[in-house]
Amino acid sequence: MTARILDGNALSAKLRGELAARAATLTAQGVQPCLAVILVGGDPASAVYVRNKVAGCEKAGIKSLKYEYPQDAAPADVLGRIAALNADPAVHGILVQLPLPPQFDEKAVLEAISVEKDVDGFHAENVGRLSQGQDAFVPCTPNGVMEMLKSENVPLRGAEAVVIGRSNIVGKPMAMLLTAAGATVTVCHSATRDLAFHTRRADILVAAVGRPRFVTGDMIKPGAVVIDVGINRLTDGPDAGKLCGDVDFASAAPVAGLITPVPGGVGPMTITMLLANTVQSAGRVARKG
Ligand code: GUN
Repeated sequence: MTARILDGNALSAKLRGELAARAATLTAQGVQPCLAVILVGGDPASAVYVRNKVAGCEKAGIKSLKYEYPQDAAPADVLGRIAALNADPAVHGILVQLPLPPQFDEKAVLEAISVEKDVDGFHAENVGRLSQGQDAFVPCTPNGVMEMLKSENVPLRGAEAVVIGRSNIVGKPMAMLLTAAGATVTVCHSATRDLAFHTRRADILVAAVGRPRFVTGDMIKPGAVVIDVGINRLTDGPDAGKLCGDVDFASAAPVAGLITPVPGGVGPMTITMLLANTVQSAGRVARKG
């Protein structure tokens, strides 16, 4: 069997078209969706992500505001900016790109963002609401994965789902969403004994470990849906400089039933869901008048 490719670029293009139409309607009603993005320090990967987020906004007719701070920025300055953006009724979403430099208390920064503007879904209140099945902003990457599974009508109820990685950004919310959808979810991580024992049982396998080509074909159940959240830049070998996922595509694709590529899989969906959350937030403001 050779897996079908789950194309995140194609699904993103379709969803972004719908979001652009919704954004245009809101703008015509006097509420142009607006996302504020804060970038601290010079991490090159973060700079690329922020650039792509801002470009995604522009293409969808969403206004974006970008605030850049140096690596040695004072946390009070960034917190002051967040307070001002919280108070600005024209701003519907606030995103602080992670990771932050070491002088920052990341948790305190995320908690400073208004729950109503937390389009990343990282505020503890949104995390709690999500865990209880209440209306909440859903973190963009796992939300994008759920949209990909939905687009392919992947059966989730009763499915065995294995998530590798327990981060707050991906692994934990991914497990919550899959559980809510009726899957039986196992979360594996660096202390898991016999990882392959778990992964080989998975109807749906989500890899979010941050290690290049970590999941190999022999770890995958034939016909499984394999979702690769990793974005790693290879530093050596014949493919040095290239991007690759957490899944070894060459050995996994002949075994899996459906697989996301890197690049062009989950990556574009993350930004699409950020745009969706921003438009949703603006829609709430418009409805309140
Ligand atoms: N760093 C890595 N992924 C993300 C994300 O989804 N949002 C933010 N704010 N920072 C990140």
